[in-house]
Amino acid sequence: MPIDFISPKRIPRPFVKWAGGKTQILSHLRRKYPPHFKRYHEPFLGGGAVFFDLKAASASISDANAELINCYQVVKTEVDALIEALSHYVYQKEQYYAVRDWDPETLDPVKRAARTIYLNRTGFNGLYRVNSSGKFNVPFGRYKNPTICDAENLRACAQALEGTSICTAGFEEVLASAEAGDFVYFDPPYIPVSDTAYFTAYQKRGFGMDNQERLAEVFDALAKRGVAVMLSNADVPWMHERYGRYNIQRIQAKRSVNSNTKRRGEVGEVIVTNH
Ligand SMILES: C[S@@+](CC[C@H](N)C(=O)[O-])C[C@H]1O[C@@H](n2cnc3c(N)ncnc32)[C@H](O)[C@@H]1O
Repeated sequence: MPIDFISPKRIPRPFVKWAGGKTQILSHLRRKYPPHFKRYHEPFLGGGAVFFDLKAASASISDANAELINCYQVVKTEVDALIEALSHYVYQKEQYYAVRDWDPETLDPVKRAARTIYLNRTGFNGLYRVNSSGKFNVPFGRYKNPTICDAENLRACAQALEGTSICTAGFEEVLASAEAGDFVYFDPPYIPVSDTAYFTAYQKRGFGMDNQERLAEVFDALAKRGVAVMLSNADVPWMHERYGRYNIQRIQAKRSVNSNTKRRGEVGEVIVTNH
């Protein structure tokens, strides 16, 4: 008689490629997870490498990017419809530019998420970039045979998202929900390491040193409240000055998704914790 084979549960991993994705340094971050916590919060979600790794029973995840957050909401609640929608896409330059031209505002949430995931899997370096009028403007990417729809992984992600609250929000909103005994991980856009021109451009894109300082204040407030906080950023002197009272570990990370090819390769990063 044949024995039923029950395949092991697929471990979810990020369903989008994201600049600054944390898959490369997960082994370092894992050692900093608190052994026990009530609820997990990740306000700079991106690809969610830590969220998927942590498998928290209760979590609240957010990001300022509404297009990205819609993908998570659709994966959570309409994964089969999303898989069906993605099955119509192929890796082809003409289709890429035609889909890129669609106005996401006119699409229903499932089609909108499928468009974003398709552009992410087939666009240059998995970048997310919009022009001054908010239009996605990343060029077609060169790959051998990119996976556009990994149905098994999307289903595993949907399962991981059960019981998770997902919203579009700025990082400060975590102050309204995190309580003593919770765990918060901050993975903000990184402080540029050097290069004044790059620094100015970076400021214009919206996450400058004023935001880094505000984030440090939020870190302090949560730490005071009894929340376990972990944060990653570039290994620059400012980080050591501003977070000097906490535990800081320096690590080397390999970066592959980066718009600036000169900045690929090994970069120094720090992991700050208050626990
Ligand atoms: C370094 S990425 C996070 C990468 C993520 N940890 C991963 O593994 O893919 C930073 C994220 O912060 C988001 N972001 C930028 N400014 C923000 C803000 N003010 N509040 C919340 N999220 C913001 C960006 O949309 C981006 O997804």
